[in-house]
Amino acid sequence: MSLPNSLYRAVILDRNRKLNVEIANIPIHDDNQLLIRVVAAALNPTDWKHVKLGWGPNNAVAGSDCSGVVVKVGENLKDIYRVGDQVSSTLHGLSRDTPDNGAFADYCVVDPEFTIKYKQTLSLLSKSSDCVGDIDTFEAAASITLSLVTVGQSLFHFLKGSFEEKTLKDDEYYLVWGGATSFGQIAIQFAKHVFQWNVVAVASKKNEALLKELGADIVIDYHDADAVEQIKAKTNDKVIIATDAIANSHTIQFTHDATSNDETVERIIIDNLNLLGEEKIKNLKKNVQVTKTLMYPLNGKPVQLTEDILIESDASSVEDNKIFMKFAQDYINQGKLKHGPLKLLPKGLGSVSEGLDLLQEKKISCQKLVLKISDTVP
Ligand SMILES: NC(=O)c1ccc[n+]([C@@H]2O[C@H](COP(=O)([O-])OP(=O)(O)OC[C@H]3O[C@@H](n4cnc5c(N)ncnc54)[C@H](OP(=O)(O)O)[C@@H]3O)[C@@H](O)[C@H]2O)c1
Repeated sequence: MSLPNSLYRAVILDRNRKLNVEIANIPIHDDNQLLIRVVAAALNPTDWKHVKLGWGPNNAVAGSDCSGVVVKVGENLKDIYRVGDQVSSTLHGLSRDTPDNGAFADYCVVDPEFTIKYKQTLSLLSKSSDCVGDIDTFEAAASITLSLVTVGQSLFHFLKGSFEEKTLKDDEYYLVWGGATSFGQIAIQFAKHVFQWNVVAVASKKNEALLKELGADIVIDYHDADAVEQIKAKTNDKVIIATDAIANSHTIQFTHDATSNDETVERIIIDNLNLLGEEKIKNLKKNVQVTKTLMYPLNGKPVQLTEDILIESDASSVEDNKIFMKFAQDYINQGKLKHGPLKLLPKGLGSVSEGLDLLQEKKISCQKLVLKISDTVP
């Protein structure tokens, strides 16, 4: 389809809460942003939540993870970026603040705080891949960025991972409940290889080998009724920090119960990805602190998440995101971060609706759903 310069294809939420590929105006970037031509995009649970839980407004563009080529550079970013740079980025799709902008589109506007610029030339994936691999395709680049920013807030900001020194003792552990999630696959790599923590991951048995390849020391199957006891036994009751990446009322309790009962430990921190608070935990240990990761405001802008919920940006989280993303970009460009299994959807933007249903129905295990814009049927 050939379109006038100001028009493009985008996946838009209609008034019946259905997602359709439509023609729209190209979003406007400001002096601190980039306009990119999207080459590939990845699907995330937040995309279906914005549709099905009513977070996103009608007529907004969907999509939160993408990769592509820079086509316009904001005035204040000209020292850092050039037209033609290959990047991946995350943005708030189906947003109340920026409804014209989303990753499931021919073009989108991105913030440098959420963007990785690649040194190596990215190619295109020819088929789905079942294994861990180098981030050398647009699809792989699109698959990591939202999770990467989230790992930064959880492991670097809240759980105090350090690039310079080991912040856990040799016999202490980091626990990730949901090791096979997109978040978990990146968290395990940073926890083990960057922060030098011992890592215990909770996931289905079938994903054990892959999570160990990424860096997990111990993998426990959450389907086992005694999963919490197994964690305690295998870590010698030394889980001191944790992220609950599933973060429902059951998993936050399991995560809490799996942490150390040693009252001499000054502070045990449990971070979670679904804004759960301490009140969700029964018999909360005195030394446990619960923190809540939310990646959207890490670019320094407040977020109107739902009609009623406004989330302010926190200055120290924003500062830590800048430090973390700078490190992460170098780490990725040194070829050290790996992507997990990728499932390539067949119809480009036309696959979004189907793909989000698969995510919502929990039919996807340890795989990232990705799409190529060029597969979109005009
Ligand atoms: N707050 C934020 O800023 C933020 C950012 C990113 C994500 N999130 C939220 O975090 C959650 C994870 O997102 P994601 O994209 O990383 O997930 P995802 O890739 O969609 O997660 C899928 C995986 O969840 C695992 N899983 C399901 N139930 C589980 C359980 N009871 N215990 C352990 N693992 C379980 C499955 O593991 P197996 O295959 O091993 O069974 C499956 O492979 C979502 O709710 C998302 O909305 C929040």
